[in-house]
Amino acid sequence: MTELGSETWRTFPVNKLPSSLTLDPAILPYLRKGDRIIDFGCGTGKACTELLKQGLKNIVGVDVNKLAIASAAQRFSKIEGFEGAFIVGDIRHLPFANESFDFGILQAVLTIIPSPYERVLALSEAHRLLSPRGRLYISDFGQTWDSPIYRERYIAGAKETGYEATFSVVDRENYIPPYYAHHFSVQELTDLVTNAGFKVLMEKTNRLGFRTRSGNVVNGIIVVAQS
Ligand SMILES: C[S@@+](CC[C@H](N)C(=O)[O-])C[C@H]1O[C@@H](n2cnc3c(N)ncnc32)[C@H](O)[C@@H]1O
Repeated sequence: MTELGSETWRTFPVNKLPSSLTLDPAILPYLRKGDRIIDFGCGTGKACTELLKQGLKNIVGVDVNKLAIASAAQRFSKIEGFEGAFIVGDIRHLPFANESFDFGILQAVLTIIPSPYERVLALSEAHRLLSPRGRLYISDFGQTWDSPIYRERYIAGAKETGYEATFSVVDRENYIPPYYAHHFSVQELTDLVTNAGFKVLMEKTNRLGFRTRSGNVVNGIIVVAQS
């Protein structure tokens, strides 16, 4: 399978980057005042803006897309009291010391890392960077086999990519470069975090609760885990 992962995202048009997701209120009981937060694959800082509204100011956003980071850095530099930073980096290997953060966010990011091995790398890096009892919030797209559109995509995608529920997204009409997306099963996502050394604190499925960027409705999965 062609690697259409991070390379595609380095140059992805910035205005098309933000995900269709917002932080789920289920995150709130797990956030602590003063948490040092890292937003893995932050894009233009959508989740960071929501965290700021919760009074959290120490937030580092990391993304492979330079223009997205420049845009977030400029916007947040004007916000009084913001103590974080925006850094160009690859979440599979980041230039921070072990246990530098207390809370990690992965919102609509694992879905666009098409190979299972690359996702394992991202999760092990998240585990290395979080302090003991640090928490990781994951919000991502769940497999929706009862949707005829997605069932067809999963079947065609498996033939193309060799991976179940991994498929190419092609949307020329909206000038979006082609990329691969993966939809998770709950078991797969919880195995991914536990195999990286996390303990699952909470997991829930929002049945048909997530809208994709193309407007389709699919299942959503939220996981909060502790290192
Ligand atoms: C669908 S967007 C979601 C952005 C953001 N989390 C949000 O919810 O708006 C996925 C993001 O992951 C970034 N990304 C993809 N691969 C990455 C990698 N290996 N390291 C860092 N960022 C990556 C992309 O550039 C993009 O900004």
